[in-house]
Amino acid sequence: MARIVDVHARRVWDSRGRPTVEAEVILKGVRGRAIAPAGASTGAGEAKALAADVAVRNVNGPIRAALLGVDARFQDAVDAKLIALDGTPDKSRFGANAIVAVSLACLHASAAAAKRPLWRHLAGERRVAMPVPQVQIYGGGAHARGRVDIQDYLVVCPGAGSFAESLEWIAEVYHAAGARLAKKGAQLGVADEGGWWPSFKSNEEGLAELVGAISDAGFEPGADVAIALDVAATQFYRGGRYHLALENRSLTAEQLHAMFMRWLDAYPIVSIEDPFAEDDHEAMRAFTRAAGARVQIVGDDLFVTDAARLDPELANTVLLKPNQIGTVTETLACWDAAQDKGMRAIVSARSGETEDVSIVHLAVGWSVAQLKVGSFSRSERMAKWNEGLRIEEALGGKALLYPARKLFK
Ligand code: PGA
Ligand code: ZN
Repeated sequence: MARIVDVHARRVWDSRGRPTVEAEVILKGVRGRAIAPAGASTGAGEAKALAADVAVRNVNGPIRAALLGVDARFQDAVDAKLIALDGTPDKSRFGANAIVAVSLACLHASAAAAKRPLWRHLAGERRVAMPVPQVQIYGGGAHARGRVDIQDYLVVCPGAGSFAESLEWIAEVYHAAGARLAKKGAQLGVADEGGWWPSFKSNEEGLAELVGAISDAGFEPGADVAIALDVAATQFYRGGRYHLALENRSLTAEQLHAMFMRWLDAYPIVSIEDPFAEDDHEAMRAFTRAAGARVQIVGDDLFVTDAARLDPELANTVLLKPNQIGTVTETLACWDAAQDKGMRAIVSARSGETEDVSIVHLAVGWSVAQLKVGSFSRSERMAKWNEGLRIEEALGGKALLYPARKLFK
């Protein structure tokens, strides 16, 4: 038995200096701990976080009372209890931040009771591989006060042979990108996820600069290091049009579609997230029909980690963020549903993060082939990349990456 003998939450602080919820689930002799992250460009369909102090009280009151005596090893039963007790479709009674912290803390507690690292506890005896890192180089959108409209300019390394090698290469590209900005005389700072604060005259200039940084670092754009975008288009969609504030123009969905198609021809882009607004399904469908065979098209705000929303006609890949749906069990159900539908997945952090590294273990333990946790600076990001290095070492260190070349051919 691994009965829960206590549940406790406290208010801690995230990477934006905002309060959040840390939960502990205590068994006899061991405990598990997890912290809820927070988004800035949240999807309308996400589970709702409550004020941290209210969420903490909900954990220490009704959630604790409900979970005392429950066997922590049965994650689905624990999560079902949390869902039923909350009773709302969006977790707004207890708060998604309260629920996700407890759900993840329970998972950590059962791994600790089994005396196994979390990734191994999840994988069982299955062989696992390291996920391909997707790393932000410039931050924009809601994470940089709208300094550019595109939210994330990221890179992946189809040519790297391991997780560690991907990070080596990305470090070079990240520093080359900073050096290029400094050379232009731009003020060097970083956005919410640690990517360079953008200083571009157009959204497209960010792409050209990123290709320049990849070359400056000594890599071949496309073959060694390729580009991924998170457009987060819901953020600049108003009245049926897409408003590119940086360029002082607004586009119809058809015009934005044409712009992306031109970018796909001109730049080594292998992945594009939320290219249209979360409720502009018509535009998503048209884009996936036109480009889905040649590029990864990712639904974040579009699918909000909700198995019931997955539709491969809208996007071929789903972003998995546990706090978007609220529990470990529902996050895994979304990944299972994606596999049933022939879709890919990426485990992702939020723009408001902490030292919590649970998601790295989820990616490895669930065999999700890609991981996106922000940029290559700020310790809430580096804690996760570094945890990946520890896991890769435990796995034996080589040829352990998912074949990125196959993912991004
Ligand atoms: P968010 O951004 O955490 O602010 O929602 C991350 C993302 O859009 O992927
Ligand atoms: Zn996103």
